[in-house]
Order: sequence, then C-alpha cells, then structure tokens
Amino acid sequence: MRQFRSFLLPLACYGVTGAAAQAAGAGTKPPGFAPGAKWQIDIMNTLDITKPLVPADAVVWDLDLFHLQRHPEIIDFLRKQIPDVSVICYFNAGLAQPSDCDWETTWQSAAFRGLLGNSYDAPFGEEKWINIKNQTAVDLVKRRVALAADLGCDGTGWSTTSADYTRFVTELATLAHSLTTKRGFPLMIGQKNAAGLVDALAPLLDFAVLEDCKDLRREAGGAFCADFQPYVAAGKPVFSIEYPTSLRDGAAASQCKATGADAAQFEKSCAVDAAAGGSLGNFGFSEVLKLRDSASDESGELNGCTQYCGKQGAGVVVTATNEEIDGDAGRQRRV
Ligand SMILES: *[C@@H]1O[C@H](CO)[C@@H](O)[C@H](O)[C@H]1NC(C)=O
Repeated sequence: MRQFRSFLLPLACYGVTGAAAQAAGAGTKPPGFAPGAKWQIDIMNTLDITKPLVPADAVVWDLDLFHLQRHPEIIDFLRKQIPDVSVICYFNAGLAQPSDCDWETTWQSAAFRGLLGNSYDAPFGEEKWINIKNQTAVDLVKRRVALAADLGCDGTGWSTTSADYTRFVTELATLAHSLTTKRGFPLMIGQKNAAGLVDALAPLLDFAVLEDCKDLRREAGGAFCADFQPYVAAGKPVFSIEYPTSLRDGAAASQCKATGADAAQFEKSCAVDAAAGGSLGNFGFSEVLKLRDSASDESGELNGCTQYCGKQGAGVVVTATNEEIDGDAGRQRRV
C-alpha cells in the first residue's frame, strides 16, 4: 500500500478544443496497430519526459487520460521518439474521483452531483460510481471520449465491470468512431477485462486490454485468455498483462528486479500459443509482465517496471515516471 501524501499539487488540467481533420476511411487503423504489437502501459504515474524513453520501440502506449490532460506535451514527446506510436488514453468510464480533471467542473457541480452513487471501496472512499443508467451521465462520460481525440490520443479505453455496460459501451464506441484523431484516423476504443462481454463487443471495438488471463495465481482453472481470440481473429490487438511475484525486488528503488521474473514464473507468464486454437488461448497477444501489489493482493501495479517476453533473465525496462506531477496527491489510482 502506498502512502497517502497530505498535499495536493495545483496542476492545471488543460482545456482543449477539437480541431476538425480529414478522416481516413472508416475502419482504417494507424500503422502497426495489429496483433502482436509491442506495447507499454503506465496508468499509475505520469511519464517523465525529462528522462530517456524506454522502451523506445513500443508502438502502443497506454497512458492515463487525465495525466495527459495535465501534461499534453507527453504525446508530442512520444511522437517525436516513435513516429508510428499509437497512444491509448485510458479512463474509467464507470467511476469519478477527485483526481479526475472533470471532478470539480462536472461531477461536483450542483447540476450533476446527483449522478454519482456509492463509493467504489474503502479507503478510496472519494471514488464514486457514475450512474450510467441516466443519459445525462452517459453524455458527460462521452466528453471523456471526445477529450481523448482532442488531446491527440489514437485510442481510448476503460474498465468494464458488468453486462449493464453493453448499451453504454455501444454508445461510446459509436461516438469514438465518429471522431477523427489528429493523425486522421477514426478514434479507436477498447475494453479492459470483462471477458463475458467479448462476444458482444469484439465486433464493435478496436482492441482489448486484459490482466491475469492465464490465472497463474489460482490452482483451479479459470483462465480466460481464449475468450479474447475474436479480437485477434479480426486483426485487432489484445494487450495482455501478467503479474509474476518474482519480478519484484524489494531492495531496488524501482522495486523492479533487473533480471526479471524467476525461470518458472517467466516461463508460465510468457508461454504463448504458436497458432490459433492452442491450449493457452493467447495466440497473437501482446504480453507484458508487471509488478503485483503483493503476493496476496489481486491487483497489480501498472507503473514503469516491465518485463518483455523473449529471454528469461532479460527484457526488463523501467520506464521513467514522476508521481509528483500526477496531480492526484499521491493517491493510488484505481486501475
Ligand atoms: C438524470 O440526471 C439529471 C441530472 O441530475 C436529472 O435532471 C434527470 O432527471 C435524470 N434523469 C432520470 C431519467 O432520472
């Protein structure tokens, strides 16, 4: 558990205005946005662009929408380093919390305060469910999708939690695909986890992000990688995260073991089907290994410490981040 800090940094959330651009044909994708694309995800802390970028060859970067609203220069930085980069701007479509740039202006405003429901969980009691059964709330969430396009993101994605979301997601996807990115493509949109929704959503969405689909932590079966094969079959990337405990090095400043996960965990985490229909169900996935919070905790840490598959004992990078500029008072972000 990370420490709470007592100060709140006064970091502005930049206003943006949409600039119309000529769209490429519907359904076209940015170059390199395909199954197996190398990716990085860091939605916990803000990328530190004063440091060299690693990995410099990841063509897809999944970053936090509101970190980018506070620091839109990060997208320009990535584009300069990696010309074909696709930036996915992650947000949580079902929740609002004080660190969100639209918290004060929207969810805490007198007109819309009633659209928030119960707290998501303790001790993050300030994070509230958005009542997406109310169309006004849906329209306000759609502003987050539009914000992604305005900031220069190529895609956007969110956590999905229940089947109630299908209609809601359909509405967000229709909006996303009607928007044109700064690079002239339709804004892409993807789902995070929620294997039960894949059949309904894979035809509609452009990618998926999923965690722990091999179910390496539990003894009984429960693996769900194969549920996401409809994306791969349609030429859409699936970005997969595993959390091997042995990647953590408690003594290292970054908590990241330079040699990565131990041999047994590396092998399990990185095993991949060579062809569609294999027993693991993960043919074509883009894999990263990340830190797990703790041996007993279900959640992982989506920060700079990352191991790529390839060779055991290698492939570890620590992407530079700076949590002082996150703008959320050091609170752990809900991922
Ligand atoms: C949805 O929320 C708005 C704003 O709080 C409210 O005015 C409206 O009555 C709500 N609609 C329904 C159907 O409850």
